[in-house]
Amino acid sequence: MKTTKLITLVVTIALGLFILIPNLSWAADDGATIYKAKCAACHGADAAGKPAAKIPSLISEDGKKASDDAIAKSINTTAKHPAGVKALPADDVKAVVAYIRSLQK
Ligand code: HEC
Repeated sequence: MKTTKLITLVVTIALGLFILIPNLSWAADDGATIYKAKCAACHGADAAGKPAAKIPSLISEDGKKASDDAIAKSINTTAKHPAGVKALPADDVKAVVAYIRSLQK
């Protein structure tokens, strides 16, 4: 029966979204997840940067001395940052800064 198959499909998709959406919104709040998705490609998984490509380390002495506000401002205003990084909402920026602090230890 075609209709039964269609209903099964719709119910499966609905259930899938129901399970996925809370996980996605949780992931968006997680500093480590945001860093890995939006920063690691340039600054490196360990945040040590890539000197050859002129990408600064975020775990250097200067990075450690920088205030949370200064790091947050760099994230949103660095000219070389992709639009998605510059437009990162304040909550996500805060989570990423906290994650960078954990890498600095
Ligand atoms: C496309 C590569 C790229 C991505 C992606 C990127 N950055 Fe950067 N970032 C740079 C470059 C290049 C600079 C240096 C810019 C300059 O010197 O003008 C920089 C500078 C910075 C600075 C200032 C550091 C300093 O010592 O001046 C911070 C903080 C920073 N990035 C954090 C982040 C965070 C956090 C993310 C992810 C949310 C991110 N960046 C994503 C390339 C990138």
